[in-house]
Order: sequence, then structure tokens, then C-alpha cells
Amino acid sequence: VFHSHLEERVRPYIDLIDSLRLIGIDEDLALPTIAVIGDQSSGKSSVLEALSGVALPRGSGIVTRCPLELKLRKIKGGIKWQAVISYKEEFIEFEDPLLVEGYVEAAQNELAGEGVGICDELITLEIMAPDVCDLTLIDLPGIARVPVRGQPEDIGHQIKSLIRKYIDKEQTINLVVVPCNVDIATTEALKMAQEVDPEGKRTLAILTKPDLIDRGTEKNILDIVRNKVIPLSKGYVIVKCRGQKQIDDKTSLTDATRVEREFFRRHEFFSCLLYEEKATIQCLATKLTQDLVDHIKKSLPLISEEIKKQLWSLRKELGHCEAGPPLDPQMRKAFFIDTLTKFNDKINRLATGEVVNDEN
Ligand code: GDP
Ligand code: NA
Ligand code: MG
Repeated sequence: VFHSHLEERVRPYIDLIDSLRLIGIDEDLALPTIAVIGDQSSGKSSVLEALSGVALPRGSGIVTRCPLELKLRKIKGGIKWQAVISYKEEFIEFEDPLLVEGYVEAAQNELAGEGVGICDELITLEIMAPDVCDLTLIDLPGIARVPVRGQPEDIGHQIKSLIRKYIDKEQTINLVVVPCNVDIATTEALKMAQEVDPEGKRTLAILTKPDLIDRGTEKNILDIVRNKVIPLSKGYVIVKCRGQKQIDDKTSLTDATRVEREFFRRHEFFSCLLYEEKATIQCLATKLTQDLVDHIKKSLPLISEEIKKQLWSLRKELGHCEAGPPLDPQMRKAFFIDTLTKFNDKINRLATGEVVNDEN
């Protein structure tokens, strides 16, 4: 998904975090998680899929029925694609990307039952590959307004409280997905994001399905993307993902990226958005990675402080330990003779019944 120049800017920070993770510092530096929220069928899974390069279950109706945490880990050096899906007591490793959909569906059926129910137990899918970006993304069930057959009356409420659990956290970047062909002002997901993040500091809105737009509304969409209608400090990105037909035609994600760029390049109203860096999945990925880097930069003073604290307490602990033998061979000899003499004295005193008040 990434241009190499971006990679070069980002890589040093990611490498730093990786090495800090090795010494266990990640407890002090929680990397931001990106939660994707929106109405049912607004295109959440499609956006995630395009960002991650991993085909996920998607379609009409409720498809995502449990929170799915997608941990992408970039690994260097000729290692092939590997994944682990875990939930409850299950832990399944596999090496074929085509198995993702099936495993996710099986996990959902086990956790939420077969059918249309939802469940707030987390499914974690960790993917290690050379060509992914280091991001953690969470796919959440879509907000449903009206229960369908087999769903409880309060399904809308259940889904909203599940979503709120994720978007509440300060560390979470909220991606609000809104199709171009609905009225953004009435979007429940945007309202929820504004409730937990009134200044919009960690909310980014994604407009989807620009190919299904009602003719005549293009200028209005343009105003929204340019942040003139409902301003958010992180702003908007417009993307075109694979539609049902492209999925049926088995258009690959790589081809879809090319089709998307062509779509915007040729668009009468939206082509300018390419130059304004407000269109395409590629642009979204760049923004998210930049957010990640900013977060790491902001956290560096904190990490440095933490390392100093740990060093200080280690030094203090060391101070309580007795001095070991000196490095200089001549002095070392004297040190051993001295130690042995003291030891010998102690034995003698013990042997004569003297009470040993040990200070050495
Ligand atoms: P979710 O329920 O929010 O996760 O939505 P999905 O990602 O499952 O998408 C719902 C439907 O919309 C699927 O059939 C997608 O193929 C389709 N879709 C998603 N994005 C686009 C888009 O940009 N254009 C078109 N035409 N269809 C899209
Ligand atoms: Na859906
Ligand atoms: Mg979905």
C-alpha cells in the first residue's frame, strides 16, 4: 500500500518502537489503535481491507458481528505471509491469506452464534508480512437502525455500547465511515465520535462510494471533503473501494487501487482532490501513518523519562550490593587476600565461641 518515500520517513520511528518493544517499553507506549465505525454497509470492512491488503468478510446486511482486531506487523527479510487468529481459547496459525475470511466467519459463528446476533468478545487477527504497514485496526459491527428478523429489539443499543467501548479510549483514532450518498449530518457514527471527541482531535472521516453519488450533489460532497460543512481537525478523505460487482468479478486489491486512482483522475468534480491529498486509500494510509509517527514523537520525552527512572532505581539497587573484585589483577590479589583473611578471622571467632556480629 505504501510509497517507498513514505516508508523511508516512517521506518526509523517504527524501528525505534520495535527495539523498545524488545526491552519491554511498550507498556509505557501504547501505540494508537484505529477503530472503524459507521452505519451498516457504509463500507467499513472494505476500507479496512484496502488498508491492510487482507480480504475480510464483507457484503450487505450485518457481516461484522464481533469486534475484529487486525494487528499488522511488518517483518523484514524474505519471510512469507503468516497469520494467527485467536479468540477465547483458540489460537490458530496459518500461512494462506485466502483462509482469512473462512476463519473469521467461523470465529464469529462460535462467539456470536450463527445468524445475525452480535457479541462483544474480541477476535484478534495478527498478520506478519513484508508488505503491510505497522498498524492495529479494529473492525466493528455497523450501527443498525431497525432490528432484522432474529435480532433482539435493542440491537441498535447493544451495537452502540460496544462501539463506545472502543472509541472512548484516548489512544484510539476514530475512523468514521460515511457513504457519499447519505446525509452526513444525520450520521449516527459521526455523532458518537463527536460525543467522545468534541474537538475532533482523533476523529477522521472517510467518505465512501463516490461512484454511487446522486447526480447534482457533487459540489456538496466537495464542500464536505474540504472541511467546510462539519469541520474536524483531522478532516476528511474520500475513497472508492471495490463494489459488489468488482468483488464478484474477483478484482484484486492491487487492481482496485489502480481503478480507484483512475476514477478520481477522470472525475469531473473530484479530480482536484487528488492534488489536495484528500482522495484515495493511499492518501488515507499516508495520513494514518503520519498520525502514528506524530504519536511516537510526542511520546518520546515520556519514554526517555521512564528509562531514566528505571536506570536510577537500578543504580540504587546496585548501590546496596557489595563491591565485587576489582579489575586490576594486582588489586584483585589484594582484594582476595583481604576477603580470605576476614573470612578466616570470622571462622576463628566462631570456633572460640565469640558472637559474630557480621558486618562484612
Ligand atoms: P460494512 O458493513 O460497513 O463493513 O460495509 P462493507 O465493507 O461490507 O460494504 C458494503 C457493500 O458496499 C459491499 O458490497 C461493498 O462491496 C460495497 N462498497 C464498499 N465501498 C464501496 C465503494 O466505494 N463503491 C461501491 N460501489 N461499493 C462499495
Ligand atoms: Na455489511
Ligand atoms: Mg463490516
